[in-house]
Amino acid sequence: MEIFREGDLGYCAYIIVKGRVEVSTCKNGDHIVLARRGVGDIFGEMAIVDRKPRSATVRALEDCELLVVSEEQLAFRLATLDPILKMVLGVILERFRESISHSRAFPQVALPSDEGVQNADADTRVDLYRQAIERIELEQELRVALRDQQFELFFQPLIAARTGRLGGLEGLIRWRHPTKGLLAPAAFIEAMEQSGLIHDVSRWVVEECCRTIVHVEKHGACDPGFSISVNVTTRDIADPSFRLHVRRKLAEYEIAPSRLTLEITESQLMENGEDVLSLMRDYREMGVGLSIDDFGTGYSSLSYLTRYPVSGLKIDKSFVDELRPRQPGEEIIRAMIGLGHGLGFKIVAEGVETEEQALLLRKLKCDLLQGYHFSKPVPLDEAMALMQRWAVDRAFPDEDNDAFAAAMESLSRAASF
Ligand code: CMP
Ligand code: MG
Repeated sequence: MEIFREGDLGYCAYIIVKGRVEVSTCKNGDHIVLARRGVGDIFGEMAIVDRKPRSATVRALEDCELLVVSEEQLAFRLATLDPILKMVLGVILERFRESISHSRAFPQVALPSDEGVQNADADTRVDLYRQAIERIELEQELRVALRDQQFELFFQPLIAARTGRLGGLEGLIRWRHPTKGLLAPAAFIEAMEQSGLIHDVSRWVVEECCRTIVHVEKHGACDPGFSISVNVTTRDIADPSFRLHVRRKLAEYEIAPSRLTLEITESQLMENGEDVLSLMRDYREMGVGLSIDDFGTGYSSLSYLTRYPVSGLKIDKSFVDELRPRQPGEEIIRAMIGLGHGLGFKIVAEGVETEEQALLLRKLKCDLLQGYHFSKPVPLDEAMALMQRWAVDRAFPDEDNDAFAAAMESLSRAASF
């Protein structure tokens, strides 16, 4: 039975679950068998990758069970593929098509080949090459940046809600690009991840944070629970040499492990958490903090919270944005904090932008507050200067929001220079 014919338009690929198929073409009226495929093989993938007509006819040789891989499934993956891989894939397929059309010695059956189709093809190719070239250049620049120390760590303060003192800092990477100025991670993090450079950069960030912890302990007016957070990926966590690096640096700088917190986004944890569970335990046994970043955005089931050995949650900014007294937003955050505390976690609220939010979060017993209301991420010396000014050297009674509000006001005044 024919599954599709050479020259047809293709909307899906197939994986053979049961049975066998025959791939064939027709040359000068002769039926030529190109291949036979069995269980586990895929066919019909070419038309989906480069959107050309079917390059061959495929028919079932026996009773077959086929798993359909839809065009959308492939298209989404192709669209999000590393541009360099996408270019290489396109080139390989193009060469394969060239070689089969030579060997078959007759023109490939094609779509009615008008100008428009040809131009569209050429445009796609130019676009693929341009994206790949940009990515190759960016990755080369990133290597140079690492070698020439063009990366800097900025720090955003986390305020201990109860005392108003500095409870922590989050280290955030910036790239001082030689011609483009200061770049935020959005411009380069993906290239860094896909090229594997992120491994070296994460190590560098850990060491910078250790250096900073020593500096802050010497000069800062910080909370006893003070900790510096570093954003890491589950790939970092899964890498035993990264763990060794963390252990070595803590020892080298003589830092209490609890001064360092590793942040992992909730969505990454949901994707790869199972694989890194035991490694996460190692970090906790070492005494290093582990915090779930962007909490509340990644998943619907909360049962995972009891499974992962984490020490903190960072409530995503989107929840803080909705925080208004006696509104559902308040109840959601109250529940998150209650749940987190019940499990023994330290709770950070991200994206605190107004005094009203800060006061309410304090009332709800959130542990740490982070956001533009206090400060943007700033270079270390600026963070240190803010810290000195913010050394509100007393604890507020829990319900004394007036005193806290006064202190907050002085904090945000100090921050807005
Ligand atoms: P597609 O072009 O979508 O449809 C026909 C399929 O046959 C093609 O994808 C490949 O999966 C397969 N195919 C084409 N040429 C060959 C070949 N020479 N050998 C084996 N399989 C082929
Ligand atoms: Mg973070």
